[in-house]
Amino acid sequence: GSSYNVVPIHKHPELMSQCCRLINSEWPRSEVARMRSLEASCDNLPTSLVLTKDFNQTVLAHLKLSPIPGRLNTCFIESVVVDKFFRGQGLGKLIMRYAEDYCADFLLLDCLYLSTIDSAGFYEKLLYEKCPPISMYGSRNYHLPSLTNSRKTYMKKRI
Ligand code: ACO
Repeated sequence: GSSYNVVPIHKHPELMSQCCRLINSEWPRSEVARMRSLEASCDNLPTSLVLTKDFNQTVLAHLKLSPIPGRLNTCFIESVVVDKFFRGQGLGKLIMRYAEDYCADFLLLDCLYLSTIDSAGFYEKLLYEKCPPISMYGSRNYHLPSLTNSRKTYMKKRI
């Protein structure tokens, strides 16, 4: 069998630089900014989860759970990425399902949100549904053009 495992990054700080490289291979950004985001991970939100193999030696996938201002019992799933060489093997589904259980059972959330430009089909397979855009910056900014004119598809799932 496999030795896949999903852990919060703050329980395995030794994996942070590997995780940083994985995220930056998809969305290049400064290493300092990435490390700062990973270092914010905690038992409350935000939480960065990583899927590992070989007894937590190798990072194969990542996602980040962030709080949504003004919406208790929810979070926003961001920066979902599977290592290029391991795509199409069900690992994206695996880390997403783990994250849903973690959100329901440990964080006691009841609804998950995300936005995507070109992976809506992936999330539809996981039973996410399209929904109106939500703001990550509080409801006062809800009608900002950057949000309403976005190419992003917003999706949600009750858990
Ligand atoms: N569009 C439509 N369907 C897809 C896509 C896609 N982009 N990617 C995978 N699928 C389908 C698969 O065919 C599979 O279908 P099946 O269950 O019928 O066989 C199912 O979704 C599950 O696929 P997995 O093998 O679990 O997906 P994978 O491990 O390849 O991970 C992911 C998918 C995370 C999108 C990966 O391709 C990736 O890292 N892409 C680059 C980064 C990216 O675009 N991330 C999403 C950004 S949006 C966000 O973060 C909220």
